[in-house]
Amino acid sequence: MTEVPLTGKRVFIRADLNVPIDNGRITDDTRIRASLPGIRRALEQNAAVMVTSHLGRPKEGVLKPEDSLAPVAKRLAEILGVEVPLISNWVNGVKVEPGHVVMLENCRVNKGEKKDDAALARKIAALCDVYVNDAFGAAHRAEATTHAVARFALVACAGPLMAAELDALGHALAHPARPLMAIVGGSKVSTKLSVLGELAKKVDSLIVGGGIANTFLLAAGKPIGKSLAEPELTREAKRIMATGKVRLPADVVVTDAKVKSVDDVAAGDVILDIGPKTARAYADGIAKAGTIVWNGPVGLFEKDQFANGTRTIAEAIANSEAYSIAGGGDTVAAINRFGIGGKIDYVSTAGGAFLEFLEGKTLPAVAALEARADD
Ligand code: 3PG
Repeated sequence: MTEVPLTGKRVFIRADLNVPIDNGRITDDTRIRASLPGIRRALEQNAAVMVTSHLGRPKEGVLKPEDSLAPVAKRLAEILGVEVPLISNWVNGVKVEPGHVVMLENCRVNKGEKKDDAALARKIAALCDVYVNDAFGAAHRAEATTHAVARFALVACAGPLMAAELDALGHALAHPARPLMAIVGGSKVSTKLSVLGELAKKVDSLIVGGGIANTFLLAAGKPIGKSLAEPELTREAKRIMATGKVRLPADVVVTDAKVKSVDDVAAGDVILDIGPKTARAYADGIAKAGTIVWNGPVGLFEKDQFANGTRTIAEAIANSEAYSIAGGGDTVAAINRFGIGGKIDYVSTAGGAFLEFLEGKTLPAVAALEARADD
């Protein structure tokens, strides 16, 4: 975007403004704030700016009130200090003057969006002189506004957030300062199996926590009581452990906040955090790392009695001299809760796209922009 003249042009920005909304109120506006540089840049150059995003996973063809970007347009207007009219049914034409910005309703409501429909993408391309994709959070989706439109737009380029995300994540993984350590937590192995497998090949050590660790503990023959786990995936877990990179908890915190060795978990226990000994050992490893990649909490950090593991890890990353990146909704929530945002080198706005990038997958939206890079 920084290389493209925007003055007087019609600029269509696909952002990821898919923010959490509770009863009409935005509970975290990080993604809106992260999208401001691209929007501001276009406005400063007197472009006629159209911004859109998906919100949630609505059914195509119907705009339900809860799927509307209205709260997002309102918030953007407050932050920018200008009016941001919200436009519905925008595919066949949008009125916007140079130096002004409008928000186009939830793009996932348009028929054909999710199927990456070429006819829809052509119409969207015809709305603008310059298509900007600044939605790294949706870069793993091949949809009309993230993918097909890049083929048909007169000019297609990446926005500043997209560029910053790709730079930061690429920097961490392409030539990492060693040791490279990944910390992967969260509840289910099944959602992160392929990322765990790929990371195990690349990193020097792989710390697992949360429900994910339970499946690994089970695979290692440890008792896990009634803890959340996916026993059908223990074979996969064993395969990943065979790399010798995986570090498992030695102690855990169970339901009644009791600390137990992983050998002593009783039949009725539910593991809800890593234990203090494990948290210290992980923190020592983090202190020696050259690069740290973090996705997913290692315990039920929303409850104080099970927050120690995630807090210890978060603080260790914050105090480490390693280059650190973190991403994912729960991870960002933990970072905010423990107030360490400013001490992590890069906090990604993405969830699924962050994971797919770590897996080394080609992100369709990025590939579509790359295909236009030499125009
Ligand atoms: C996200 O929240 O991870 C992105 O906005 C993508 O949303 P999606 O999973 O509904 O495509």
